[in-house]
Amino acid sequence: MAEMDPVKLMKQEVGRAAAAQVKSGTVVGLGTGSTTAFAIQFIGERLASGELTDIKGVPTSFQASVLAKQHGIPLTTLDEVDYIDVAIDGADEVDAQFNLIKGGGAAHTREKIVDGLAEKFIVVVDSSKLVDKLGSTFALPVEVLPMAVAPVTRALAGYGAKVDLRMGINKDGPVITDQGNMVLDAKFEAITDPAELEKALNNIPGVLENGLFVGVATEVLVGEVKDGQASVRSL
Ligand code: A5P
Repeated sequence: MAEMDPVKLMKQEVGRAAAAQVKSGTVVGLGTGSTTAFAIQFIGERLASGELTDIKGVPTSFQASVLAKQHGIPLTTLDEVDYIDVAIDGADEVDAQFNLIKGGGAAHTREKIVDGLAEKFIVVVDSSKLVDKLGSTFALPVEVLPMAVAPVTRALAGYGAKVDLRMGINKDGPVITDQGNMVLDAKFEAITDPAELEKALNNIPGVLENGLFVGVATEVLVGEVKDGQASVRSL
């Protein structure tokens, strides 16, 4: 059998470890991205085997709801439940204080609502996502109302960012979010005060939400591969 690519293996094992933490009778926030997709798959497998019963998922994106349905996870909405026991979600960068950059899949607005409501928010990443300073490898996604793209681009440049409108793949034109908005990717040299920047950027008229998640994560699970063997550690 062909060997699985190491990054995929890390994502799979960290997804499995997070899914193992879900308990019967709970409401679960279902994140977006390739790592969380494994967690959704394993939650579905635990439900199918009868090891897990009576859970409800709150999806963070259209794609998360598609995957949840495929794997037999019953869904609910924030109109039906007023709490989330545990959320599982990926990240694009994680610093030592558990602050995150998210939004590589353009889902950070709904993710921040769902992950922020969760009693426990488990971040699932492979080791390449760990950074000393946020912004050092990944551009910060900022969701923007379409009519405000030009002024918000200028405002972000005023904060020292190099800004790109995120373009679709296999689609002419920009990426459109689940809310019908656009995404500006703002590359900073490094983000020295994530809490301050998160608030400042959300204060620009036309910005719906940015991908800085400060003080939201409660646990970070990191997948690693050494000598072809995958392991997961909790930071
Ligand atoms: C979705 O908008 C993002 O916040 C994802 O959670 C993030 O990009 C991680 O995705 P991967 O698990 O695919 O790396």
